[in-house]
Order: sequence, then structure tokens, then C-alpha cells
Amino acid sequence: MREPASRILGTGHYLPPIVRTNADLERMVDTSDSWIVERTGIRERRIAPETIATSDMAAAAAKSALEQAEIPASALDLILVATVTPDMPMPATAVFVQQKIGAGNCPAMDLSAACAGFVFGLSIADSFIRSGAMRHVLVVGVELLSRVVDWSDRTTCVLFGDGAGAAVLGPAGGATARGRSRGILSTRMSTDGTLAGSLAIPGGGSARPMSQALLESKQHKIQMKGQDVFKVAVKNLQSSSQAALDDLGMTGADLDWICPHQANIRIIDLAVSKLGVPRDKMLTNIERVGNTSSASIPILLDESVRSGKVHPGDTVLMCALGAGISWGSAVVTI
Ligand code: UT7
Repeated sequence: MREPASRILGTGHYLPPIVRTNADLERMVDTSDSWIVERTGIRERRIAPETIATSDMAAAAAKSALEQAEIPASALDLILVATVTPDMPMPATAVFVQQKIGAGNCPAMDLSAACAGFVFGLSIADSFIRSGAMRHVLVVGVELLSRVVDWSDRTTCVLFGDGAGAAVLGPAGGATARGRSRGILSTRMSTDGTLAGSLAIPGGGSARPMSQALLESKQHKIQMKGQDVFKVAVKNLQSSSQAALDDLGMTGADLDWICPHQANIRIIDLAVSKLGVPRDKMLTNIERVGNTSSASIPILLDESVRSGKVHPGDTVLMCALGAGISWGSAVVTI
């Protein structure tokens, strides 16, 4: 096993104040609390008020992560913001995050890998730090999905929520009480572009520019072939997580926690059961937060660290899959 180059120095998250419950959705579309809970595990999700943009949530999460890391924003060498709901097409949302947290002139860019965005961001940040080109990298996963959800489509609107999570990465160092090196131990990233049509916001870009007809056909909203994504999610989350463990000569028994993307409790249960990891090692907040795409893992990780459930020195497997189809996993000793 190679020595880790980078480690997570601090995490943070932000959830907007409006709570939208399944009972609220029962009044909006033909659905029921029992259907949503049984099929997804979700009871409520957070919604951002109109006054809040994606970068506001990202900046709040980033400030909290920097504070925990005890790193000033001016020490950042790179800001990576994983999002599919940017403030605007240009410039990058990371630019506004840089302004709002008072970082210097470090490069700031967005990363579009949907639900896998945070894991991709961790992997990229780790590579930059390993190369010696950078020392401190901020990785944010943030989504304002309520602005791109079709609130009349019961097959998608019950799933998604808004939020942001962040991690500050810096050089690895320091062994834990169990003698493990703290840091990013391994990462895996994959994309299968032949499945691009299974989860998309098809309109509003260069392929189908904004028009009245496009707005009327709601092509600027999320469209998903749910069952197709479900099947590939179970299969690929399991195989990618297994590969990340194999890279290290580890098994599920070596993990303290699994911190999976919160898309559907049934997907998580199936993927985890195939890894042979006991269910009580699985972190989850889907009941309260829903699917926040790229923000999902860093929100859950930060909640788990701050509540004292995950301790420094614990080894955590993160895994995520979403639009692309893109998926990835990371094994990290916190
Ligand atoms: O994070 C990005 C990746 N995304 C995912 O991983 C999501 C993957 N997919 C899923 O999580 C699931 O496929 C869904 C939660 C989206 C749907 O669950 P499902 O068990 O696959 O349901 P289904 O699509 O097979 O639909 C079953 C029935 C259908 O009715 P009929 O045709 O059997 O009469 C749907 O019309 O449930 C109906 N249905 C609903 N009923 C009540 C679909 N949505 C709803 C709803 N409330 N919200």
C-alpha cells in the first residue's frame, strides 16, 4: 500500500432552512408518504429560499470546513466546486465561492460529474497534492436541485434536495492511535457516456438552446429513467468500491464506516450488502436530506464527524454514482 499524499484537514456543510416533507409533496403531486418512504427512504428534504444561490451555500460549507481545518482561505491553492446547478453558465460557481470566502487569486473552477462530483473532486485534489503542485485544496459538493426539478413530475420531485458540503485537503501526516496513516488511501473514477440519456437536464445548453418550446416541454428540468439508473447504481457502486478496497489489499472488514451517496436507501442497502459490510457500519441521512447529488457525501461525512460518530483515525469508504453515468469511490482514513 502506498503512503497517502493528502488528507482531509476539515469538513463543513450547509443545509438551507426550508423543510419540505412528504406530506407537503402529497399536496403537490399524486404521491404518498408511504410510497416515498418504502421506495426511497426519504421523509423530508431541504429547499433553499429564492434569495440563496448555489455559491452562497457552497461558501457557508467552505467557511465551516476551513474553520475546522484551521486554515485561512488565503492559504488555498485551488478551489474545486462540484455542481450541476451552477449560479450561471459562466463564470464558474467556484469564482463566486472564492469571492465569498475571501480566498486569494488561486485557481477556482467547477467540476461537472453530478452525484460523483465530490469523489471526483477528492481524487483530483489528491493528485495535485501528490504531485507537489499544490498544498491546500478546497473541494465543495453543492446543489440547488430544487431549481431544476419539475415539481409536477412525481417520479423525480420526491427525490431531490438542496445543500452543500465541503472538505479542505492538505498534505498527509500523522499516524492514528491504531497506527494507520491518515489520508486518502485510494480513489477510483469511471464514466460510461453511452448511458448519458438515462439522467439528464437535456435543454438549455448548446445542443438544445433555450427557447419557448424548450421551456414548455420542460427540457430544462431533470429527466431520469429511474429503474435504469437504479440497476447500474447497485452494480457499479459495488464493483467500484470493491476495486478501491482491492487496490489496498483491504476487505469490507477493514472499514469503520461506509459513507455512500444518498440516492435511495434500497440502492445503498443492496450495494453495501454485496460488499459484505454490516449495515450498522453504513452512515445515512437520506431520511432528512434526500438526494443532494454532489453535496450528499460531504454533508453526511461532516454531520457524522461533528456528531462524534466518525472519529479521527476511522477508515471510511465513500462511493457515488449519478448522471454521466459517472461513478467513483474513495477509501479515506479521516
Ligand atoms: O443520484 C442520482 C442517481 N439516481 C438514482 O440513483 C435514482 C435511481 N432510481 C430510483 O431510486 C428509483 O428507480 C425511483 C425511486 C426513482 C423509483 O422507484 P422504483 O421502485 O424504481 O419505481 P418505478 O419507477 O418502478 O415505479 C413503480 C410505480 C409506477 O407505477 P405503475 O406503472 O406501476 O402503475 C410509477 O408510476 O410507482 C409509480 N410512481 C410513484 N407512485 C407514487 C413513481 N413515482 C411515484 C411517486 N409516488 N412519487
